[in-house]
Amino acid sequence: MQLVLLGPPGAGKGTVAARLAATFPLTHISTGDLLRAEVAAGTALGRKVAPYMKAGQLVPQDLLGEVVARKLATTTSFVLDGYPRTVEQAEFLASLPGVSLDAVVYLRVDREEVVRRLARRRVCPVCGATTAADETSPSTSCPACGAKLARREDDDAARVTKRFEVYLTETTPVVEFYRARGILKEVDGGGTREEVWRRVVDAVAAAR
Ligand code: AP5
Ligand code: MG
Repeated sequence: MQLVLLGPPGAGKGTVAARLAATFPLTHISTGDLLRAEVAAGTALGRKVAPYMKAGQLVPQDLLGEVVARKLATTTSFVLDGYPRTVEQAEFLASLPGVSLDAVVYLRVDREEVVRRLARRRVCPVCGATTAADETSPSTSCPACGAKLARREDDDAARVTKRFEVYLTETTPVVEFYRARGILKEVDGGGTREEVWRRVVDAVAAAR
């Protein structure tokens, strides 16, 4: 099975993709995670992409395309999280050998909810787990490995605003790109994680 998850920053793409990958199973390919790993390792690519990520802007496709192509060449069953997010990237993806998407799941979440979720997001710098700080009982340690949780560098209010603007201008045309090809599955991304998960499973089942 080959899936793409589309949606604004904080829509829950990573959360849903991790569960899809574990359930079906599929290879979870998050371009955000791949790029953050390059930055953390201080590679040549990491040094080139860091300024874009820091500013909440998209990394140019000429820096990212090869990374995605190499990763996709290693698997035939995957869930792509955060790629494509421009029409140029969608066309590039369609041109890759062996890529034939079964469904594109579009998680619809409004701006207010995105801002609320990203203000509460906490990530584990050791194992990569993503969680949310609970206002009533704040937790500072990772539920998976116990390491001290952190906020993602691009989750401050100004960069969330920038990322959402970039999403509106660059990524909403990708929604129409896949709608025109008849493989778009729109899912209400609001509500609890469990509610969203049930809707996604139904959408994926309908596509199989
Ligand atoms: P990326 O890492 O992909 O960031 P993003 O698209 O902005 O999305 P997020 O990871 O912030 O959110 P998410 O939808 O995964 O939500 P999550 O599941 O964590 O990209 C980062 C940067 O890398 C980009 O800005 C760009 O610079 C670069 N980049 C990446 N891909 C690129 C590409 N293709 N082209 C060019 N540049 C690229 O959930 C968010 C929070 O909400 C969590 O705390 C979670 O626990 C919580 N949550 C999840 N579901 C629910 C729910 N139902 N109810 C309540 N809380 C929930
Ligand atoms: Mg993510």
